[in-house]
Amino acid sequence: MTTLPKPRQPELKTALPGPKTAAIMERDSQHLSTSYMRPYPFVPDHGEGVWLTDVDGNTMLDFFAGIAVSTTGHAHPHVVRAVQEQVTKFTHVCLTDYPQEITTSLAERMVKHVEKPGEKWRVFFGNSGAEAVEAAVKLARNHTGRSHIISTIGSFHGRTYGAITLTGSKTKYKRGFGPLLPNVSHVPYPNPFRPPLGATAETCGQAVIDHIEGLFQTIIPADEVAAIIIEPMQGEGGYIVPPADFLPKLRALCDRHGIMLIFDEVQAGMGRTGKMYSFQHSDVQPDMITVAKGIASGMPISAMLAKESVMTWPVGSHGSTYGGNPVAAAAAHATLDLLEGVVKHPGCGASLMDNAAEVGAYLMAELRSMQAEFPFIGDVRGEGLFIGIEFVTPDGRPDGKLRDAASMAMFGRGLLNLDCGEAVIRISPPLILTREEAATGLALMREALRSLS
Ligand SMILES: Cc1ncc(COP(=O)(O)O)c(C=O)c1O
Repeated sequence: MTTLPKPRQPELKTALPGPKTAAIMERDSQHLSTSYMRPYPFVPDHGEGVWLTDVDGNTMLDFFAGIAVSTTGHAHPHVVRAVQEQVTKFTHVCLTDYPQEITTSLAERMVKHVEKPGEKWRVFFGNSGAEAVEAAVKLARNHTGRSHIISTIGSFHGRTYGAITLTGSKTKYKRGFGPLLPNVSHVPYPNPFRPPLGATAETCGQAVIDHIEGLFQTIIPADEVAAIIIEPMQGEGGYIVPPADFLPKLRALCDRHGIMLIFDEVQAGMGRTGKMYSFQHSDVQPDMITVAKGIASGMPISAMLAKESVMTWPVGSHGSTYGGNPVAAAAAHATLDLLEGVVKHPGCGASLMDNAAEVGAYLMAELRSMQAEFPFIGDVRGEGLFIGIEFVTPDGRPDGKLRDAASMAMFGRGLLNLDCGEAVIRISPPLILTREEAATGLALMREALRSLS
């Protein structure tokens, strides 16, 4: 009989935080921006795959991937090679003024995942999610000649002025920063677990559509609305998947009124949900898409994709000095190789996208089965490796305190995790996570949750 090798486990060599971590945390608190958050004391030193080792030599399992960014894990050899090769060629010329083959071919590659027969799309490259969102809003206004933008409550679109105006998740992003962008309104997001507008899980999609149509009759002239921007699966707001009828109905509403539909895929996109973009779990086609985070395994690059018929802004009207940087573009190519399965990652099936679907389904089923033992897990939801666990009080209200305690208990056992929404822990690991590593994470979670009961 052959015995299987024991799966790798976290290795905690010091009490947490270790002495080097504590010292850096102290210096960090003295010299860095007072706006930075520090959910728990972790200071990375190096990583390998789904494992991150802190400066004290403690190795932990990464279940948040630098907020859904490190798609291919840490220091993936294929990505490292691509970056190293490009650095020896050139690191910057400026895409706004000069074409570069590496970004031309990246754009060609990215639009292939979106274009439907008879359609052509174009790509604008930036550096961050917020920059992609700003580009989409500017283009929507410029193209339609209208000014109003509709966003959703609970959404997150970034921290630049336009993006914080659109963001609807927490007032702390706005307090004291006004005046913000004019002509922006927020509507409820159809959350089946906490349906808005007095609706049910089944009817909340239609209820939000009716609500928007109501606004068009009373407060916002529809013919002054340039765009509706929405996360097809809401990220920071709590990893929420809307009911299946919602996106098609939203598309129809936009078509009725000549409004651009922008899908913000910054968090849920790039293979995380098991499809390249989370909206592709439906048949709906938007007019613009914003992507960042998972696109280049941590190298800073973002993109705003738009239908050619929509990308009508004139030459020189928009650009970015660093946007589409060739080193980041090389990392994006390498990341796409692995996502598409052009290059295989050992133990991860045909492609990382397939792996996200398969390991995600396993994790979701196991997490749902844990609800019987832990009644404070009110909801487990998501798609692929985009999973939210919502903590609730005995009477069903969001329990942020318990979520925070759970997050710390997981960290204390070597499981890196991150919160979102009011009372949710998001599971957004690198897409190279194997079933065995997922099982290790689940065991750590169980142990952590038992320590709370
Ligand atoms: C959906 C979404 N859009 C935009 C952003 C902003 O991205 P960035 O922080 O890169 O500007 C985020 C970041 O979390 C996001 O989740």
